[in-house]
Amino acid sequence: MRARRILSIAWGDCQLVYKSSPVSYKFGTFLGFGIMEFQIVGDSPLATEADLLVVCTYGEPAKDSLFQQVDQSLGGYLTERAQAEEFAGRPGQVLFTDRQGAGKARSVCVVGAGDMNGFDAGRIRDLTASAIRVARRIGAKRVLMALPSISARHVDRAVQVAVEGVLLGSYRFSKYRAEEAKRSDPVESVLLTFERGKAGGGKRGKQTAGHNRELKAAIERARVVAEAVCHARDLINEPAAVMTPSRMAEEARQVARRNGVTVKVLGPKECEKLGMGMFLAVGQGSDEEPRFIHLTYTPKKKPKRRIAIIGKGVTFDSGGYSLKPTQAMEDMKIDMSGAAAVIATMSAIAQLGSPFEVHALAACCENLVSGHAYKLGDVLRSMDGTTVEINNTDAEGRLTLGDAITYARQKIEPDQMIDLATLTGACTIALGPHVAGVMSDDEELTESWLASARAAGEDMWRLPLYARLREQLKSPVADLRNTGERFGGALTAGLFLKHFARDTPWLHVDIAGPASNAREYGAAPRGGTGFSVATLIEFLTREGLDRKRD
Ligand code: BES
Ligand code: MN
Ligand code: ZN
Repeated sequence: MRARRILSIAWGDCQLVYKSSPVSYKFGTFLGFGIMEFQIVGDSPLATEADLLVVCTYGEPAKDSLFQQVDQSLGGYLTERAQAEEFAGRPGQVLFTDRQGAGKARSVCVVGAGDMNGFDAGRIRDLTASAIRVARRIGAKRVLMALPSISARHVDRAVQVAVEGVLLGSYRFSKYRAEEAKRSDPVESVLLTFERGKAGGGKRGKQTAGHNRELKAAIERARVVAEAVCHARDLINEPAAVMTPSRMAEEARQVARRNGVTVKVLGPKECEKLGMGMFLAVGQGSDEEPRFIHLTYTPKKKPKRRIAIIGKGVTFDSGGYSLKPTQAMEDMKIDMSGAAAVIATMSAIAQLGSPFEVHALAACCENLVSGHAYKLGDVLRSMDGTTVEINNTDAEGRLTLGDAITYARQKIEPDQMIDLATLTGACTIALGPHVAGVMSDDEELTESWLASARAAGEDMWRLPLYARLREQLKSPVADLRNTGERFGGALTAGLFLKHFARDTPWLHVDIAGPASNAREYGAAPRGGTGFSVATLIEFLTREGLDRKRD
């Protein structure tokens, strides 16, 4: 499996190369695609040799000076093509030409960036991802990317997300496709330059060792983030028949072994002893045994805080007896995306270091139908003693998470808890397929989480936890019932979880939409996206820093 390759050999022989003044960073191999070397160069894009020159435009190409320059050197051919193909520089738009003569570049590709007001991490990542896809398609070995001009204080961030885009845009889940699996990545080196030289260039004259070190740290950070995101993608993309609860536990054990974090895995008997009646009920219809995963990272210094990150780990969601129709069930192997995110994040945390003691929890099970499955009307007893009447077996995520949250509260006693879950279709209806819903009544936690999401370039939006909706979760026979009405479905799910979080500062992220893509979007491929990994890493390693800088 690719994840294993990433972790074991891919970065084993990373090597830093100092060139005269630009910074160069060489990876042994990335994702088994061959050599990928990154250089930050300060020369004019047209004076640099490359198989492919990538130019970005912000809205109208005619107003863009680098576009003009390249166009001139091609005798107006670029403008001609732009008109023919209605290229307007919109985000995601790509214009390619292999007409020779643009300075020292063999071919040119123009990538639309739209209007860019200030620093936008997601946008830069998407740009380099689009660019690297073109490079792979045309078999370019040496790619030069001319990126937006960026104020000096953002340079290391820009380099980080640009490199992330290249790595994330190169991701393929091709192990089950004989032809594609054999194909290797043609790209050997990627050169980054920032327009009008405010980045590498601006500081070129007085480039210091300290500055170089910062840039290299940014590239190294990008590698760690991309590796974690791709690991999550791999776990999500595996069929449910492969990525079972036990296999998830095995993946967690591997993360622990390779990164020196500790791991505890509980089976059904241990979960029963703890009284996890909700979690066990969801898993009881399957022949696959449930697994409760607990990874712990402990910093060398005294931890500033203790944080629990909790991922929904339903490895397949058929809906149970409230069975999903085929179309809704088709993609339900992705229902463990939250668990994949928290497990993959732990590798990155261990490599980058965190000031916090971090606990990753994932209650993994399958929601199936059988003679053992839980039924509508059943009354479950949760780990905290709450009784819950089941009126929909397809609202299973909140049951598994409810017990995981109680475990966190009682066994870990964290200062903060964050759960990530593909919880409701309603959240996707509300915010669209690419935005996560954030629910919390802790203002400070919400603010710092959303700041981390912004810095990481992931789109998240706060939804309210209106207490009045709690009415909907009242049951005539138990303390709670597991679903409310159709309208406001994301919020009642949030309120259900809140019941178990009680007074511990807690934040819920519904990633039902962005966890997987129907088709390629930005730096993410079709299928599992690894959404929320970048924000988690940001939050757990740099929380607070960015608000000061921005
Ligand atoms: N795993 C689903 C939510 C989901 C839907 C995730 C689509 C990703 C894409 C969840 O377990 C579920 O079935 N939720 C129900 C809740 C309802 C029964 C209250 C839903 O959204 O329909
Ligand atoms: Mn469900
Ligand atoms: Zn589900």
